[in-house]
Amino acid sequence: LIVNETEEVKQTEPRHLNAVLGTFDQLWSPRIVTQVNDYDVRVAKVSGEYVWHSHEDTDEFFMVLNGELTIGLRDDAGERIVVLSEGDVFTVPKGMQHRPMSVGGASILMFERSGTMTTGDYAGDIPSHIDATMGHKIS
Ligand code: NI
Repeated sequence: LIVNETEEVKQTEPRHLNAVLGTFDQLWSPRIVTQVNDYDVRVAKVSGEYVWHSHEDTDEFFMVLNGELTIGLRDDAGERIVVLSEGDVFTVPKGMQHRPMSVGGASILMFERSGTMTTGDYAGDIPSHIDATMGHKIS
């Protein structure tokens, strides 16, 4: 693991995603597995409802590693949901309001630009079950 003053987090050795997922239990608290150019590859464990938010400057890529993730989407055309099962991928376009949720719990992988706050433009109080973060380094 290389960490420099710009908080770059590139792996020099292979890591198994399941091993990374085994290093933490906190929900809605992404770990940065590695980086690709200026994008983080993050994994997170999720359960329950997130908050509605959008990311002004970046798309957000989701892949479900296990469990099921539902993402609410809201734009000028209205509101809809997408349901993602294990192996499904989906990209939320930049600027689109979205709210991930999982009734039974899920582990997910995300690509998002380094420095992106998980809660995006959300301006309300952060519920206690959510970690507002730019991602944590893995141990
Ligand atoms: Ni988001």
